[in-house]
Amino acid sequence: MNLHGTAQIGQNHHLWIGGTDTVELAKKYGTPLYLYDVALIKNRARGFKKAFEEKGVGYQVAYASKAFSSIAIFQLIEQEGLSLDVVSGGELFTALQAEFPAERIHFHGNNKSPEELEFALSAGVGCIVVDNFFEISLLKTLSSKLNKKVNILIRLTPGIEAHTHDYIITGQEDSKFGFDLSNGQADKALKEVLDFEHFHVLGVHCHIGSQIFETEGFTLAIEKLFGHFKKWEENYNYFPNVVNLGGGFGIQYTSEDTPLAPEQYVTAMIEEVSRQMHRFEGKELPELWIEPGRSLVGDAGTTIYSIGSQKEIEGVRHYVSVDGGMTDNIRPALYQAKYEAYVANKMNEKPCQTVSIAGKCCESGDMLIWDIELPKLTDNDYLAVSCTGAYGYSMASNYNRIQRPAVVFVENGEEQLVVKRETYEDLIKNDLPLKSNVFV
Ligand code: LLP
Repeated sequence: MNLHGTAQIGQNHHLWIGGTDTVELAKKYGTPLYLYDVALIKNRARGFKKAFEEKGVGYQVAYASKAFSSIAIFQLIEQEGLSLDVVSGGELFTALQAEFPAERIHFHGNNKSPEELEFALSAGVGCIVVDNFFEISLLKTLSSKLNKKVNILIRLTPGIEAHTHDYIITGQEDSKFGFDLSNGQADKALKEVLDFEHFHVLGVHCHIGSQIFETEGFTLAIEKLFGHFKKWEENYNYFPNVVNLGGGFGIQYTSEDTPLAPEQYVTAMIEEVSRQMHRFEGKELPELWIEPGRSLVGDAGTTIYSIGSQKEIEGVRHYVSVDGGMTDNIRPALYQAKYEAYVANKMNEKPCQTVSIAGKCCESGDMLIWDIELPKLTDNDYLAVSCTGAYGYSMASNYNRIQRPAVVFVENGEEQLVVKRETYEDLIKNDLPLKSNVFV
């Protein structure tokens, strides 16, 4: 059993997180229920920051809000002094509603619409991570129209393949993101943005993938980037003030996963950048920015489900169904992601059977966990699936018209509902009935 953060087994043999009894919370708020261990999020945030501060390096740690976005998490991230990476008008809107300081918001995305860009410029976001030539031309028009100076990072594709699941690699040469270093696109982009009066080119960005367990991918990317900066220095007399190395730091979903501590990733990055700086006489180390998503909120999240029906097929499989599934956690169906689970009200009981956890959607692929050892189960039991804090709620859907669960934050014995459970009314709130005499 691999308990994360403040999770522990209480004297009543229940799973406790943040000094609260998860079984009591499940009864109070209903299931499925996403719980977040606030202390674990703070701990990770502070771990990343401390690693930079100890080395005296200028930095920003921007939370990649696609991992889990809501007003409350943005407020918590703000309190911790982090910045924020948003990738859509919706994430930006949520951040502004949370009164997140616009100057600490970085706007990402490979197809930002003119409306989204105008929204971001009017709000005064800290920087736009420019992804492609179409966006450069949109930004030129908008910044001239609004007469605004825009801080820019150029998103580069260094052609480094991080060791991770194929579907979620974004740093290969064949990528929809960014300007390629090797084929001249990056140089052309730099020239275009440097020459434009309304742009202030802060530096560059690259993101090499997700759920990464070693530092080599990052150090290789740094080597490639800085090799290229040498050319930029010679050809354009340009050296970046900011180098954003993206996110992708892994977490331990199961015992097979072997992530490093936040400071190990950061230290390796700083060391490699310092090494590369020997090529640039008289230049100061650029500011280093990172964008962790999963590693800030992933293992801080636990989903509590109620156990429902069971189907035992002699000699084949024992299915145990829960009251959620791919609608609150699409990752097993989409990426064959693996999770661990416990019976939240029977933490003292030894496993005695192999079962497979099924969701409630009308789809055979709606399985949360295949072949897990658990104690005997009844419909009075609660299943706690750990490490569901990243890309769970944010990728949740209403498939089969199932309502999205509630989200509760816990810390030091305190609990707070931060996202309400959707109601049936929520499900139909945008539906419009047919007008009479149309389509008859
Ligand atoms: N920065 C950029 C530019 C990104 O594209 C991403 C993730 C991050 C930061 C944060 O990466 P993280 O630290 O969370 O690994 N839905 C997938 C993950 C997609 C990641 C997309 N980009 C999953 O559930 O595994």
